[in-house]
Amino acid sequence: KLYLESEGFNWKSVDIFLNKLYYDYRNLIRRIEMKIVVKENYSEMSKYAADIIAELVRNKPDCVIGFATGGTPIGTYKELIRMHKEEGLDFSGVRSFNLDEYLGVGIDLSKPYSLDQSYARFMHEELFSHINIKKENIRIPDGLSKNPEEFCKSYEEEIKKTGGIDLQILGIGGDGHWAFNEPGSSFTSRTRIEALAKQTLDDNYEAFYKNAGVSREQMPHYAITMGIGTILEAKSAIMLANGSKKADIVAQALEGPVTTDVTASAIQLYKGDVTVILDKGAAAGLKKL
Ligand code: F6R
Repeated sequence: KLYLESEGFNWKSVDIFLNKLYYDYRNLIRRIEMKIVVKENYSEMSKYAADIIAELVRNKPDCVIGFATGGTPIGTYKELIRMHKEEGLDFSGVRSFNLDEYLGVGIDLSKPYSLDQSYARFMHEELFSHINIKKENIRIPDGLSKNPEEFCKSYEEEIKKTGGIDLQILGIGGDGHWAFNEPGSSFTSRTRIEALAKQTLDDNYEAFYKNAGVSREQMPHYAITMGIGTILEAKSAIMLANGSKKADIVAQALEGPVTTDVTASAIQLYKGDVTVILDKGAAAGLKKL
């Protein structure tokens, strides 16, 4: 060491070189495992996602699909409805598990949709009531369960009994959450009750509750959510994001450190086949495209 140093050898440059090598290697591996597709706009993004889902349904009619709610997948669900109605895409054998539901909230078909903020209602209105999926094959966390902790365990068991989720559909929250796994959630977490973070409450208040006349205080502050560990066990996944509002958090999740501060960064740990589908706005912060 002394000899090398006396010859003017610069250890710092070796350090920098090794770090760069490690960084490039990590990104190379990540690129192989994770496919990132950037589409021109929301409609193209939604069609691409719907095609992946439809292909699975055609190849494996009794597949298990993990569904997400939120604004992002609505276009994808519209396209699936179109495929069902115009092309006969058949959901009669499909089984489904939803990612999450607000605690204390359940579907109430006697209310107009705008006043029923349950995720069960969302799925009913945006997809299930328009396709031929069988009611008995649909699973959504039961926000009205008398014993939500027991319910969470049984949800996990049911997923296992089906043989596991073939394709999980994911969005990403403004604070980087996956399902309702808020910052700080463990990567080994399972289906459980989670307190919603301030940003999620703000986002969902603006997007849904305000219009329904529910105050910020009255809106649900807890949810039942699949855990990150549960999600990572899906055999394949697609993650969707659109709009420049998501650009920064998408870049953090895909290119930043794998951290529980941004739970969607767990996507870098996926062992299955995973495709991230973005529109141009949401892809704007990526350095490696
Ligand atoms: C909903 C879910 C959430 C949403 C996320 C993004 O089932 O899992 O994590 O994917 O909050 O919501 P939108 O799509 O409304 O931006």
